[in-house]
Amino acid sequence: MNKITDLLDNGGLKDVIFSAQYEKELFIEADKTRRAVYGTDVYLRGLIEFSNYCKNDCLYCGIRNSNKNLKRYRLSPEEIVSCCENGYKLGFRTFVLQSGEDSFFTDKIICGIVASIKEKFSDCAVTLSVGEKTKETYRSFFSAGADRYLLRHETANEEHYRKLHPQYMKLSERKQCLFDLKEIGFQVGAGFMVGSPYQTQENIIEDLIFLRKLNPDMIGIGPFINHADTPFASFPNGSLEVTLRLIAVLRLLFPFALIPATTALGTIAHNGRELGLKAGANVVMPNLSPTEIRKLYSLYDNKICTGDEAAECRRCIEHRIIKAGYNAAVSRGDSKLWTKSQNKNTTD
Ligand code: SAM
Ligand code: FES
Repeated sequence: MNKITDLLDNGGLKDVIFSAQYEKELFIEADKTRRAVYGTDVYLRGLIEFSNYCKNDCLYCGIRNSNKNLKRYRLSPEEIVSCCENGYKLGFRTFVLQSGEDSFFTDKIICGIVASIKEKFSDCAVTLSVGEKTKETYRSFFSAGADRYLLRHETANEEHYRKLHPQYMKLSERKQCLFDLKEIGFQVGAGFMVGSPYQTQENIIEDLIFLRKLNPDMIGIGPFINHADTPFASFPNGSLEVTLRLIAVLRLLFPFALIPATTALGTIAHNGRELGLKAGANVVMPNLSPTEIRKLYSLYDNKICTGDEAAECRRCIEHRIIKAGYNAAVSRGDSKLWTKSQNKNTTD
């Protein structure tokens, strides 16, 4: 197989992603690369889905504002910190705080939550995933102690973006948010769904080209999964095979990136996350949210792990990581791209 970066430049990557022809070689190369850069470590992130209120109306998303069949919830700041306390005892050293775009959580409240987590657990990283904000707001989150930010770009193609989102949402603004976050100093995560409605093969190539421009620390991809209470209820789910090949391609294009084996991947196949790890992923994000509200953060149908206690999820995931041949790492697990840039800044 030619070098993957050359294939992206000369248009040859489609065969690698969309046919099974080079699959075996691809997975072997990807696993070799992840072992060379990150060894066998798989980083655990404790995910807290703290609110399913959302002002947005993304057409694919089960917690979109127009879904009136969903019971809404939000955790209090104290409950969020208490999830982290539980997570800390279970060995998590990164907490990911994710929600819909919920205006109840003002900048001040979010900064307060971040600051109290960092004060209690100074050896932990805090990742936020709370949507599009102004650069000023992102700066305040960073000053409060947030280390990382996840904001999938969803698709890098304008026309495709307009088919997935209401017209008031703008791809240019989402992309700008990612560049702002990077400039501020966050470890930044972008990404997209595989097999989202109307997505073409060219769109995926455009996603890879956009990612190369952004050069993120983290890249989250997972299959699109339909949700009965959205306009995309009857669209087919994304493909397991294409998602796995794309994970491998991402590992080869971005050797230093942190790439999760996502819950969506584990939802479309019982061993999806293990296969994701073998294809080059090196992060998993077990859920730390209280069990009672798990089902309500329903981005898509049949989401896994909605009935388990945090401790059970932790045990289950560690078992799966070890069985797949890797090591469940108890550390912050910073991106090597970011660590390198930090070292460079201190030696300059
Ligand atoms: N509000 C924040 C934001 O916009 O980034 C974070 C929450 S949002 C629900 C997290 C991610 O879930 C989205 O970026 C999207 O890619 C993914 N997602 C939403 N609906 C999905 C679906 N039906 N299938 C798979 N992934 C989905
Ligand atoms: Fe807001 Fe999905 S529409 S999180």
